[in-house]
Amino acid sequence: MEDEFAIQSFKPALSTNLAFQKKLLPIFKYREPLLYAIETFQVTLLHGHTGCGKTTQLPQYLYETGWTKEGKIIGCTQPRRLVARSVATRVSEELNTEVGKACGYKIQFEHNVSDETKIEYMTDGSLLKEILTDPLLQRFSVIMIDEVHERTVNIDLLLGILKRILLKRPDLRVILASASANIQSLNDFFYERGKIDTKIISIEGKLFPVDVMYLENPTENYVNMAIETVLNINSSYPSGDILVFLTDRREIDDCVKRIEALSITTPEDLPMLVPLPLYSGLTLDEQLRVFDIYEKRFRKVIFSTNIAEASVTIDGIVYVVDCGLCKLRIFNPYSRITKLIRVPISKSNAVQRTGRAGRTNPGKCFRLFPKNVYDSLKDESDAEISHADMLPVVLFLKAIGLRNIYQFPFYIPPPTIHIIAALEDLYFLGAIDDHSSLTDPIGFQMVELPLDARLSKALLSSASYDCTNAMLNIVSVVMAGDVFYRPSSNHHEATACHATFITEEGDILTGLNVLESFLNRKKDMKWCKTNFLNYNTLSHASEIRKHILPYLQRFRISSEKRLTDADSSKMIECILQGFFRNVAHLQDDGSYKTISGSPVWVDQKSTMNNKSIPWIMFTSMVQYEDRTFINGISKIESKWLEHFYNRRK
Ligand code: CDP
Ligand code: MG
Repeated sequence: MEDEFAIQSFKPALSTNLAFQKKLLPIFKYREPLLYAIETFQVTLLHGHTGCGKTTQLPQYLYETGWTKEGKIIGCTQPRRLVARSVATRVSEELNTEVGKACGYKIQFEHNVSDETKIEYMTDGSLLKEILTDPLLQRFSVIMIDEVHERTVNIDLLLGILKRILLKRPDLRVILASASANIQSLNDFFYERGKIDTKIISIEGKLFPVDVMYLENPTENYVNMAIETVLNINSSYPSGDILVFLTDRREIDDCVKRIEALSITTPEDLPMLVPLPLYSGLTLDEQLRVFDIYEKRFRKVIFSTNIAEASVTIDGIVYVVDCGLCKLRIFNPYSRITKLIRVPISKSNAVQRTGRAGRTNPGKCFRLFPKNVYDSLKDESDAEISHADMLPVVLFLKAIGLRNIYQFPFYIPPPTIHIIAALEDLYFLGAIDDHSSLTDPIGFQMVELPLDARLSKALLSSASYDCTNAMLNIVSVVMAGDVFYRPSSNHHEATACHATFITEEGDILTGLNVLESFLNRKKDMKWCKTNFLNYNTLSHASEIRKHILPYLQRFRISSEKRLTDADSSKMIECILQGFFRNVAHLQDDGSYKTISGSPVWVDQKSTMNNKSIPWIMFTSMVQYEDRTFINGISKIESKWLEHFYNRRK
């Protein structure tokens, strides 16, 4: 925002008496019954509305009552990295210690824990990794799986694994925390007569009533309708902040811009709208802005994905605007393409979204669809395991020694065709052998590396192509994201700067070029700014690099050898070892066709856009409207491909 419209915000003051605040949370009344249940039953299923204190308080109650006395710790998993980190920060404040002391967090590429740590917040993916080295999770006395209603692939895997562990470790306690009341079937999954005892505890919500309003007729454009509704609320309803649920970052950024432009002309007698985005792609600081408190003459409007549905509690929301949709990643096992598809939410999501308006006051929820659409919604959304790529799941199950994947006690088994596709891909990546067992060393190393299996394969192949150091940088930069900063105001200048980094081989070596220059310049922020490079992405890439290097040292894969320019084709060939399926051939109309026959278009942001290269390899895909766009593009020679495919026969 420009200075003349700068809005004064202030951070919510941490009460000098946090201990007093803690006692006001709804969960506090349940402290004793909860502790009794956890003592007595191996599995406790906890339902309580968002903000009642499940995530921040329960691990502290366990800590206070000696569950960490015998050297074991309390673990709590989160589906989102940023939530794991911000909750650990909050709990550390409540415990009056620094993060990483009594309470810490472990997320991908970032660990902040120490020997003193007794409460560990982590992503569910981090806990899965621990199972590989500590199969019975002996480090833990209690494990809380938070937000189980989200039913991500990782949560489903953990449910099955914990069930196996509980049968072998009667001393272990598991807590399944959910914002959705629908936990009976989860209870039935865990309960085993005479073996696993379970207990359901529901925290009575003291939510304020929320009026739900519907559109009379369906809207053709819910984004415009969302903006219109926000303006209406601002002009006709009393004070209170607004939370708008949209489906993706593009819509959210668009709305933020439009409201920013509109607020300049806000009539004097109306509050000035302060639009704020909330989605996982933002940095922690950007996300935390939604908690800022503004003076009365302002009104916050938060445009969010379903991240604000249950994981993040924002006080002061009185109005919710719900578009009724969300984006799902749907994997196609035939084309191996994952598409992001907009789908109607479930009734349970809609109710959860509505509840966000009634936390601190009676509220209003504006559903941007008619009542009959609500009536037709499914009760619950499908678990991710029914429509996701199973490659990481199968790799993991192989790593814990399952020969037959279906031996695993899935809460809901994934579709067979997805399992077959994953087995096939793992076989061609060299991770499993003819007997479907993990190969040594490739398979085992792939399981350990905190990377996508295809990137792992490229990295693990690098020694044979004499390009380990370059591949370490490539993998880091591919994981980190777009290195170019593209401001709309300075478009030409930025493009001219970017041109100096662009290599004719394509995006991947361009990214490598930028990262190497960044590292050579000692991560100079100013240099990034003058060259229109994304400092955050590059710093993140450098962190990832630091994190992966020890694995290579442990696997004794050399990273010493420096490359000369002449070796660039070797690097691309090496990446192809992992991405041999991500190959496409130019069509007459300028689009491409993948080897499985799916039409794709080169993303406008790619440096290879409009270059008409006959054969290309890509590392990422995004879906926009009905087209699939590819990015991370490198020029390849078709003869490399022949050589590659022939060799596999
Ligand atoms: O997990 P659940 O949704 O039940 O609640 P929680 O995350 O434990 O939050 C309990 C209370 O702590 C809420 O009223 C939040 O406003 C507050 N909180 C906070 O101020 N800052 C955080 N980072 C997390 C929670
Ligand atoms: Mg929570």
